[in-house]
Amino acid sequence: MGDNQLQTSFSVTLVFLNENDLKKDPPISSPHQELRLEIHREADDICLTVNNDAGVCVFKFSITRDTECCRVASRSFLITLGCFSIIMRFSTPSEFEVFHRMLCSWHELRRHQSVFQQRTDESSALQYFQFYGCLSQQQNMLQDYLRTATYQKAILLNDVDFRDKVVLDVGCGTGILSFFAVQAGAKKVYAVEGSSVAKYAEILVKSNNLSNKITVLSGKIEEVCCPEKVDVIISEPMGYMLLNERMLESYLHAKKWLKPKGMMFPTQSDIHLAPFTDEQLYMEHHARSHFWNQRCFYGVNLSGLHSSAVDEFFRQPIVDTFDMQVLMARSVKYTINFLEAKEEDLHRLEIPFVFKLLQSGLIHGLAFWFDVAFVGSRTTVWLSTSPNEPLTHWYQVRCLLQTPLFAKMGQTLSGRVHLIANKRQSYDIHITAVVDQSGFKSGNSLDLKNPFFRYA
Ligand SMILES: C[S@@+](CC[C@H](N)C(=O)[O-])C[C@H]1O[C@@H](n2cnc3c(N)ncnc32)[C@H](O)[C@@H]1O
Repeated sequence: MGDNQLQTSFSVTLVFLNENDLKKDPPISSPHQELRLEIHREADDICLTVNNDAGVCVFKFSITRDTECCRVASRSFLITLGCFSIIMRFSTPSEFEVFHRMLCSWHELRRHQSVFQQRTDESSALQYFQFYGCLSQQQNMLQDYLRTATYQKAILLNDVDFRDKVVLDVGCGTGILSFFAVQAGAKKVYAVEGSSVAKYAEILVKSNNLSNKITVLSGKIEEVCCPEKVDVIISEPMGYMLLNERMLESYLHAKKWLKPKGMMFPTQSDIHLAPFTDEQLYMEHHARSHFWNQRCFYGVNLSGLHSSAVDEFFRQPIVDTFDMQVLMARSVKYTINFLEAKEEDLHRLEIPFVFKLLQSGLIHGLAFWFDVAFVGSRTTVWLSTSPNEPLTHWYQVRCLLQTPLFAKMGQTLSGRVHLIANKRQSYDIHITAVVDQSGFKSGNSLDLKNPFFRYA
């Protein structure tokens, strides 16, 4: 190969090692046949595919930022994946050199990316900040009376925490929270905004004669430099089901600018979940996919796609509101304390649950909502998106089970919800549930990035 930079295919042998091999002497089994290693980049990860001489893929894995790997002797490379390791032995030291150099240069590139860039696909970020760059989207949030009024109340009722203090507003949008902080007596506010709406925030700061108090910093919180450490961080980083958008991580990231014993507004959040029964919703969801059952749609048989359509629709969390009566048990609560939590804590969340059923019937899924608390020196103010509170623009979110579960009053439904962050600024949701007394099981995997907006 003339240009080493372009070589992405190598001849290797693989040796797999697990705990048992390491107990033996000598510790490694004999190498297998020569295989073809193909590598390519996928966003920030390096994907490795190993093919046999018939071109059939025999092994596939990725080297991510967190993968443990290192050079061994002159032409081998050790990679640890969970509970086993692989030694890749290259056919020649020069092939190994090419591979190794390529890996090092990709690592180097990654080291220069911000935390935000590392965890976000470029296309997702572009679309996200374009959305927030629109005044119509900012207006939608500003006009959520419960949201905006509760933020102002929480800040003004705790004015002692803001008077003569330095404040950081993470994702300031039009700057509304920064204005509230000044109303409460803040000495200085740094208002950071990643989208182009920063220029509108600047216009409002100037036209409200507050340029001496509020400084708009245009850029992502992960990338801007705040001129000084701050006493309080304020932000409205909540998405659907609290976690959508992954902006909570940006909020936690901002703590690098917080003085010791500084305050966070909001201070904590509670995710609530409860089983619900809603036959109509379930039937409606199925009915949406009936379209794909048509055998003569303009002369074309669509039914070959029916089961794929059902799968796709069931992966959609439903954003709407409902009557409290559909809830079959008291909710289980999962708390995130923003003063203590680290960004990494939000990469994978596991929420175990045991619900004691208050009524008999079919459980169609789990309903989710959240509350946040502003814990100030004077008072604690709550902002709730619960179904028994006035509706907000966050509504509530319901995740259907693939198959409804029958349970009787007094029985228990137990299981867990896994929330796994993805690079599309959202989460993959995995639910498993069992009625303990009957052993009936169900579950579902959903994509929070692609919800179904059912509200009128
Ligand atoms: C939910 S809006 C809140 C806007 C404003 N604080 C309000 O309460 O009306 C979140 C804002 O944060 C911005 N944002 C999101 N992630 C950010 C990041 N990593 N750095 C800076 N701004 C960010 C978005 O562009 C958006 O304008």
